[in-house]
Amino acid sequence: MAIALVTGASRGIGRATALLLAQEGYTVAVNYHHNMRAATEVVEAIQAAGGKAFSLRADISDESQVVAMFEAIDREAEPLTALVNNAGILFEQSTVENLTAERINRVLATNVTGYFLCCREAVKRMSVKRGGAGGAIVNVSSAAARLGSPGEYVDYAASKGAVDTLTTGLSLEVAAQGIRVNGIRPGFIYTDMHASGGEPGRVDRVKSLLPMQRGGQPEEVAQAIVWLLSDKASYVTGSFLELAGGK
Ligand SMILES: NC(=O)c1ccc[n+]([C@@H]2O[C@H](COP(=O)([O-])OP(=O)(O)OC[C@H]3O[C@@H](n4cnc5c(N)ncnc54)[C@H](OP(=O)(O)O)[C@@H]3O)[C@@H](O)[C@H]2O)c1
Repeated sequence: MAIALVTGASRGIGRATALLLAQEGYTVAVNYHHNMRAATEVVEAIQAAGGKAFSLRADISDESQVVAMFEAIDREAEPLTALVNNAGILFEQSTVENLTAERINRVLATNVTGYFLCCREAVKRMSVKRGGAGGAIVNVSSAAARLGSPGEYVDYAASKGAVDTLTTGLSLEVAAQGIRVNGIRPGFIYTDMHASGGEPGRVDRVKSLLPMQRGGQPEEVAQAIVWLLSDKASYVTGSFLELAGGK
């Protein structure tokens, strides 16, 4: 069929998305940064279920590593027709008055520059104007882009605001090139990301404040991503799906 690249697919939302895309028949390129063992486990789980996958190590904030990752995909037999820009980072909860330039720049380098670089390389390969077969991109943003994450990580929230603007602008730029670009904004999803912010139990702390009274599961987010990539969403571009339990 075709290849779908999922960045940050070694765990959490990326992992759930990789597993579901494989069920849909994609060959999944499982990108990871540090955790080779977890990425290998995702590839093995896909293969055990009869699907196709391979892992690719690359730090998406590093331009040369992103280019090398896409060149590795070029060496595969199938074309790349789907990109899920999912890899994202945040750091310990903090107010803006305590943020350093070093931290802000690290967040932006991965969450913004990394998304731009992967979009750039994907467009070069998918664009029908360049002889590609077309394709679809889903950028994983966050409800934080709307809510701002006060007292927690405004730097992260701002990076997701930039992801939303990238999604809007790129969707218009490549709409006539056979490429759809959409975004999703998850809310409070049960993954290990909250431990990176210093509060592993964050979803359970806030869940009673959510209209649906519960956090979300990575598999629920994956369903939305896979739908946006599919032909069922063939007339959808520049759109955003909220996955935040009503918040
Ligand atoms: N969880 C939530 O509540 C929530 C809510 C809204 C939005 N989101 C967004 O959803 C996406 C996935 O979140 P998650 O909760 O599943 O995160 P997670 O469990 O922390 O997983 C993050 C993934 O990103 C990878 N990664 C981090 N930096 C990378 C880099 N520089 N290059 C390549 N890969 C990198 C990690 O790889 P290694 O482990 O191999 O290093 C890991 O696979 C993120 O964009 C996040 O902002 C999450």
